[in-house]
Amino acid sequence: MSFKDEIQRRRTFGIISHPDAGKTTLTEKLLLFGGAIQEAGAVKNNKIKKTATSDFMEIERQRGISVATSVLAFIYKDKKINILDTPGHKDFAEDTFRTLTAVDSVIVVVDVAKGVEEQTVKLVEVCRMRSIPMIVFINKLDREGRDAFDLLDDLEQKLGLAVTPLSFPIGMGYDFKGIYNIYEKNINLFSGDSKKNIEETIAFDSIESPELEQIIGNSAAEELRDNLELVRGVYPDFDKKSYLAGTQQPVFFGSALNNFGVRELLDCFIEIAPSPRPKKAEERLVDAGEKEMSGFVFKIHANMDPKHRDRLAFIKIVSGTFERNKPYLHVRNGKKLKFSSPNAFFAEKKEIVDISYPGDIVGLHDTGNFKIGDTLTEGEELHYKGIPSFSPEHFRYINNADPMKSKQLYKGIDQLMDEGVAQLFTLEMNGRKVIGTVGALQFEVIQYRLEHEYGAKCTYENFPVFKACWVEPSDPKNDEFKEFKRVKQKFLAKDKRNQLVFLADSQFSLQMTQQKYPSVKLHFVSEFN
Ligand code: G4P
Repeated sequence: MSFKDEIQRRRTFGIISHPDAGKTTLTEKLLLFGGAIQEAGAVKNNKIKKTATSDFMEIERQRGISVATSVLAFIYKDKKINILDTPGHKDFAEDTFRTLTAVDSVIVVVDVAKGVEEQTVKLVEVCRMRSIPMIVFINKLDREGRDAFDLLDDLEQKLGLAVTPLSFPIGMGYDFKGIYNIYEKNINLFSGDSKKNIEETIAFDSIESPELEQIIGNSAAEELRDNLELVRGVYPDFDKKSYLAGTQQPVFFGSALNNFGVRELLDCFIEIAPSPRPKKAEERLVDAGEKEMSGFVFKIHANMDPKHRDRLAFIKIVSGTFERNKPYLHVRNGKKLKFSSPNAFFAEKKEIVDISYPGDIVGLHDTGNFKIGDTLTEGEELHYKGIPSFSPEHFRYINNADPMKSKQLYKGIDQLMDEGVAQLFTLEMNGRKVIGTVGALQFEVIQYRLEHEYGAKCTYENFPVFKACWVEPSDPKNDEFKEFKRVKQKFLAKDKRNQLVFLADSQFSLQMTQQKYPSVKLHFVSEFN
C-alpha cells in the first residue's frame, strides 16, 4: 500500500461524553465490530469506576492498567481506526483536553434521557474552538427519554452546534421499534421482546413502502413519515464539507448496549470522518503527506510499578513515517534520539512496531526526556501548537516535609508536572511553589506518588485562588503594566514555561483588576496567539 493510501485509510478520533452516557459501552461495541475484542467487558474492566472517586490509589491503579486502552486500534472495512481514550472523570479533564489535540475528529455521546450535560458542554466547546469535526450519537433509545426534536434543540442551544439528523428513531423506550437511516435511506427494526439484542434487522428501501404499516403499525408509520417531513423542513441536508470544517454536526440515534444503531454510525463514520489533517506548527502548516516525520507528545503515562520507573510518552504522528531505530530530533532539547522499541496499540495490547504512519499513536519509553507538547522531527525546528493549559480549580502551597530529600522532591514535582498531573506556579515575590489542580483528588495522588516513587515527603497549605490568568506580555515601559506588576506583586507567579500568571483571589478582585488596568490582557488559557 502506498504512503498516501496509508494516510487515507486512517481515522483517529476520540469519544467524548458526560460520565455514564455510554462512552465505554459504545467503544466496546465499535471494537467488537472491528473484531478487535471477542467479548463485551474487555474495555469496561479498565474504566475508572464510579465507586473509586474517593479512592485515589484505586484510580491510579486503574489508570496504570489503562495504558493499553489509551489507544484502541483496529481495522474495519480496510480502514485503520485509532480510538483515543478520554477519561470521563472530571478530575482528569486536562488529560482529555490534551488528548483532543491529537484527534482528527470526535464522536459525542449524549444520554437520551439526560440530554446535554455539564461535561459535554465543556468538551464540545474545546472541539468547537478548534473546528474539530463532530458526530453526535444519542444513546439509550431503549429507555424512556426526551423527544428527539427536543434533544436536537438542546444540541443547538446548549452546545452551539448546527445539527442535521442522519438517522431518526421510531418510538422510544418500551415502544422503541427501530431507526430510520436517513443517510442510507433504509429502516432497521429493533426486534425481540427482551430488547437485549438485535435479533433481526429488516432493511426498507423506501419510507413509502406499505410494508412499513404491517411491521411497525399504522400510527408509528404515520408518525415516522411526519417526523421525517419535519426533519426535511427544519434541518439542512448533510454537507460533508461543512462537517469537515466543523460547522455542521450530523446526529445518529441508537442504543450502544443493544448494539443498535452502532453499525450505521460506524459505516457512516469511516466514510465521512477525516483522515489525518494538516497541523499548525508555530512555524508553518504541516501536511500529513510530507515525507519527513514529525509528531508531538500529547500524553505521558507513568509506570505504576516502582521497579520500572520509565514512563510511556504518547506521540501522535503528524507527517511522514516513524521508524524504529532511526534518529529523530527532540526539538526542545536539541538532542537526537533513537527508539529501539516503539509501541503501537492494537485493541487491548501493545506491541513493538517498525513503522507508523500519520494519524497513528506511538508509545515511546522515556526516562525523563519528554514533556507534554514536545515535538520530534527529522531535523526541522518545528513546534506544534495547541496544547494549552487551562486555569486549575484548586490551589495549594506545597512544602517540603523532609529537608534531607529536597532534591528528590524537586525532581518528583518536575516530572509529575511534565506528565501533566497538575500545574506548578512559582510566586514572583518569594519563590514559593503553588500547585494547581483540576480536582482535589490530585493533591493526594501527588503526595502519594512523591513518597512512593521519589522517596520525598510534602505537605500542603491552603492558598485561596479563584482563577489563574495568563498575562499577555507587554512593553515593560508601559506605565500601566508597570503599575499592575507593582501593585499585584503578591499575586503574580511564573508557570512552567516561565509565562507570567496572575492568581486572582476572587471574582471581584479579578473584575477590579481588569477595570483598573484595561491595557493588561488576561487570559484563562495559556495559549492566546
Ligand atoms: P461512560 O463510559 O460514558 O461513563 O458510560 P458507560 O458506557 O459505562 O455506560 C453507563 C451505564 O449506561 C452502564 O450501566 C451501561 O450499561 C448503560 N448503558 C450504556 N448504553 C446503554 C443503552 O444503550 N441502553 C441502556 N439502557 N443502558 C445503556 P451501569 O449500570 O452503570 O453499568 P453496568 O453495570 O451495566 O456495567
